[in-house]
Amino acid sequence: MAGTTGTHVLAIDQGTTSTRAIVFDANARPVATAQTEFAQHYPQGGWVEHDPEDIWRDTLAVTRQAIADSGVGAAGIAGIGITNQRETVVVWDRATGAPIHRAIVWQDRRTAGWCADLKAAGHEPMVRAKTGLLIDPYFSATKLSWILDHVDGARERAEKGELAFGTIDCFLLWRLTGGAAHATDVTNAGRTLLYDIRGQRWDEELCALFRVPMALLPEVHDNSHLFGHTADGLFDAAIPIAGMAGDQQAALFGQACFARGMAKSTYGTGCFMLLNTGEEAVRSEHRLLTTPAYRLDGRMTYALEGSIFVAGAAIKWLRDGIGVITHASETNDLATTVPDSHGVYMVPAFVGLGAPHWDPDARGAIFGLTLGATQAHLARAALEAVGYQTMDLTDAMIADGGRAPETIRVDGGMAANDWLCQFLADLLDVPVERPAHLETTALGAAFHAGLATGVWKDLDALAATWARADCFEPAMAADHRDALVAGWHDAVAKTLTPAA
Ligand code: G3P
Repeated sequence: MAGTTGTHVLAIDQGTTSTRAIVFDANARPVATAQTEFAQHYPQGGWVEHDPEDIWRDTLAVTRQAIADSGVGAAGIAGIGITNQRETVVVWDRATGAPIHRAIVWQDRRTAGWCADLKAAGHEPMVRAKTGLLIDPYFSATKLSWILDHVDGARERAEKGELAFGTIDCFLLWRLTGGAAHATDVTNAGRTLLYDIRGQRWDEELCALFRVPMALLPEVHDNSHLFGHTADGLFDAAIPIAGMAGDQQAALFGQACFARGMAKSTYGTGCFMLLNTGEEAVRSEHRLLTTPAYRLDGRMTYALEGSIFVAGAAIKWLRDGIGVITHASETNDLATTVPDSHGVYMVPAFVGLGAPHWDPDARGAIFGLTLGATQAHLARAALEAVGYQTMDLTDAMIADGGRAPETIRVDGGMAANDWLCQFLADLLDVPVERPAHLETTALGAAFHAGLATGVWKDLDALAATWARADCFEPAMAADHRDALVAGWHDAVAKTLTPAA
């Protein structure tokens, strides 16, 4: 594959609340990072939108900054890997590149009613068999169709091939290549509800069900692939864009979970646990998702995924929503100032509940408040909720016939919280491993780009760069754990809507 003389790899990590670029050297060490947060738009309750122009502007700015700070220049970058918040939908005009609507974000619930109707009409088994997903507003298809129905003339223009659809990776690729490439990768395609993950193609029956004209859809490639080159004028040299993966699959890859049975859990806005299931696309009986993990040289590796919509977002809410804390990092210290949560449980169903409940109409709740409850108990309950939800996911994976993973590799911003890592180890009753570099999402994208451009030879070379910084061993007595967990199950049961 075409490469440059570069020795470094740059990852663009476009997440739900921030956009960052990290330059890695050939030892997979980050040498320069630039990051910026961007505006969230909440036009109505349950709706979440982003301005794609904000995302593009920030992407360009952080990429240029990271290249400048790395000292290697654009010519020193062998390839760019893109990783992104998944499922979020952008529709743009092929002629001008201008989006026709704000991006509708994965957290957005506006199509919950339509999803309920589709389920009631009996479509879910077919959708599940082909996509490995469930019918839920979380995924792209119903949001895409919503845009076509609500922007004047959009559906007609889509049928004529004048518009393009993409998740954020695809939109950024289009912009980075100056409109030369309209493509995505298997991990992002696999989250749209339009892609047959076993046949590995866009599916006509699914497109008809969700009323999506196929003329909108991008090409789908391996994760390590030469997608195109950056357009003239963006950087000092044309850089190959050689890797792409949805952020959770990128984190699995960046954690070097290459063997069947290895699992990682990433704590960002949400929490997403992925278990490598090898070449087998395991069908879940417990409402987990079956999803492409990565495809290299045409060979697909699959994963089982548990998706929790709110993890770090609950801490953000404590800070920005009700002002209980000033900085997210305070939660670690606050949580340890009290011996327990004082019977307080927070069920952070701010945007419904994901796996294993899939209840889009559930809303957040706090239980067990007494006059003795303080901000420390609230902070602790928010952190504990992240642990309990992770436990629900591992329980579902085990119930699906898998063995409990021998260890869980954690990453993402909240994984820096020692208290949370220990609580996870205690609840899950498995060792929790924390790598030296917590930016494994970006690293996974860099790995894909580096494989395609020869910076790294193979998976063994990637695995050799993974280093463990800490290991948290389970230390909680079983009866104590059982009592805590019973309280959690009780709180969740009270939060679910009756039909869920
Ligand atoms: O599926 C949504 C997920 O990709 C978002 O990830 O890191 O922005 O919470 P994050």
